[in-house]
Amino acid sequence: MGALKGRDLLSMADLTAEELRDLLYLAAQLKAGATYPQCQKLLGLLFYKASTRTRVSFIAAMTRLGGQALDLNPSVTQVSRGEPLADTARVLDRYLDVLAIRTFDQRDLETFAHYAKIPIINALSDLEHPCQVLADLQTIQESFHGLAGVTLTYVGDGSNNMAHSLLLGCALAGVNVRISSPHEYQPLDRIVQQAKKIAGDRVEITTTTDAIAAVKSAQVIYTDVWASMGQEDVATSRIPIFQPYQVNEELMSHADSSAIVLHCLPAHRGEEITDDVMEGAQSRVWDQAENRMHAQQALIASLLGVTG
Ligand code: CP
Ligand code: NVA
Repeated sequence: MGALKGRDLLSMADLTAEELRDLLYLAAQLKAGATYPQCQKLLGLLFYKASTRTRVSFIAAMTRLGGQALDLNPSVTQVSRGEPLADTARVLDRYLDVLAIRTFDQRDLETFAHYAKIPIINALSDLEHPCQVLADLQTIQESFHGLAGVTLTYVGDGSNNMAHSLLLGCALAGVNVRISSPHEYQPLDRIVQQAKKIAGDRVEITTTTDAIAAVKSAQVIYTDVWASMGQEDVATSRIPIFQPYQVNEELMSHADSSAIVLHCLPAHRGEEITDDVMEGAQSRVWDQAENRMHAQQALIASLLGVTG
């Protein structure tokens, strides 16, 4: 795990397949109660968007490691008054040991990573949500006792952060991934190509507008909101466009009988997922949310080099 010490995690593709496997192994050990050397390090959280799971799971993970987390509210720091990110990054670098940022533009994360020497973690951007996918893969691994050869179908907004990080993370993990979304909401082609390059010929990567075909025989059905944070103004107009992509009992009947349902949360019940599927026997959403904490504890420990 030493290879991750001092690195940034801005994209799922910042990890190699081996590094991802090691992180998931460590996350599983932590969940099983393994104790790791404690550290007295300081994690900063700079979140420009709302968060429940990511914020609290990072604080819990850092506390479990013996460190502390400092919730930096952009609205009461000088970034809200226009202090350049390059300056903020160089100052925070002198106080903190690791910094997780939730923001809009991926380039802001890159600016922080360029100017700060401490590890910078993408805690969600418009482009990607890699921390979520670490927990998702941990959850899939728990359900199927492995990852290679499992097929995940993502149904919904293929152009969002979740679809992009799932494409890259599944490709790395050997999970076949199918993205099913309306024509205008397909993933960025450069991410699809990047995922295909990672996958080589061992993993199936497909995109389609046909939700039923995509779900057929899949073992993991994944969905996310139809309008992400920052897209609230188009949320209502998107509902009829995305209605055929709702994860409901009818769609689930086309999946493998062993299929599990994942959602990164928060969910809009009655839109991208029905209440009965969310609360049904196939749902693993609460385990998935719990795994945010274990996966991020593994991540922080690895970036700080405190894995023993
Ligand atoms: N899934 C997720 O990132 O949730 P939050 O927005 O609550 O952090
Ligand atoms: N795509 C969602 C994910 C929330 C965790 C958003 O960006 O709002």
